[in-house]
Amino acid sequence: MNPAHDTSTGLDALLRAMPKAELHIHIEGSLEPELIFALAQRNGVGLPYASVEALRAAYAFTDLQSFLDIYYAGASVLQKEADFNDMASAYFQRAAADHVVHAEIFFDPQTHTDRGVPFATVIQGLARACARARAELGISSQLILCFLRHLSEEAAFATLEQALPWRAHFIGVGLDSSERGHPPEKFARVFARCRELGLQLVAHAGEEGPPPYIWNALDVLHVQRIDHGVRCLEDPALVQRLAVEGVPLTVCPLSNVKLRVFGTMAEHNLPALLAAGLCVTVNSDDPAYFGGYVNQNFVETFAALPQLTRQHAYTLARNSFKASFAPPEDKARWTAKLDAAFAAAA
Ligand code: ADE
Ligand code: ZN
Repeated sequence: MNPAHDTSTGLDALLRAMPKAELHIHIEGSLEPELIFALAQRNGVGLPYASVEALRAAYAFTDLQSFLDIYYAGASVLQKEADFNDMASAYFQRAAADHVVHAEIFFDPQTHTDRGVPFATVIQGLARACARARAELGISSQLILCFLRHLSEEAAFATLEQALPWRAHFIGVGLDSSERGHPPEKFARVFARCRELGLQLVAHAGEEGPPPYIWNALDVLHVQRIDHGVRCLEDPALVQRLAVEGVPLTVCPLSNVKLRVFGTMAEHNLPALLAAGLCVTVNSDDPAYFGGYVNQNFVETFAALPQLTRQHAYTLARNSFKASFAPPEDKARWTAKLDAAFAAAA
């Protein structure tokens, strides 16, 4: 821990206690090894790992694909509506502890429907957990359906068809999975259809993929936020565009280090993204796999990057509300709560 950021400064405590929104969390990436084993037993699914410890020991990733292989294997234990509900309920408990007041949650239906799990099972389990989180924890949430980019656009269209009867249960669509070799333009037509349907649009771009993937996510897919986007700094004209238009980036620092986008947290470009005036947010991506939930991301990032200050903490939390798809009155209420947390800690 950097001495400038130990708890005596209060910054560490403020990072943990400040209200925040989480905008980049794959619900399947919140599946902890203990729950994977419990669900495997409940559903009679065999796992190629002898124990929770052996599974956790396999979490030594070299790049995005090495992670995705294990992540999809872990998701194979999800079969019944109760499994999706239990997974999301466990995430909401962690989110509440981290003072998350609003979460926009990705789910990957194709990971499940391709194994014969009905779309209805997935979305009903998740929606039930979202309703309970609001009632019991006061957390608001929305679901965002992600298309798997390593599959075809035709498969994405088929998924959209399955999803439309459940339109009331999700606010938008995203694009995730293996980035390299699967550029945004591969999904131009399905995103155009989603746009016509009035869905919110986001896409992973510039995590491992180059700046043209970010340009095309904006210009071809017309997304409103970029997930990750950290490689934008390689292209000054792109940075200018993102800054002028205020396009939010949902950055996931622990993920970037675990997947070797950056060698160490001290090398992460979050300070440079903030200095460029970009609307950056901090998120957990796949917290069960990358070493922590959203507060752990804040705390480890600030500990490794001493140039980050209390003002940056405020900006990051405020950006999380600004960049959300929530109604203006909710954003105003959460921002007032954030202001009060900072005033109380002055
Ligand atoms: N699916 C889950 N996590 C992901 C990530 N970090 N990038 C792309 N696809 C993902
Ligand atoms: Zn992601």
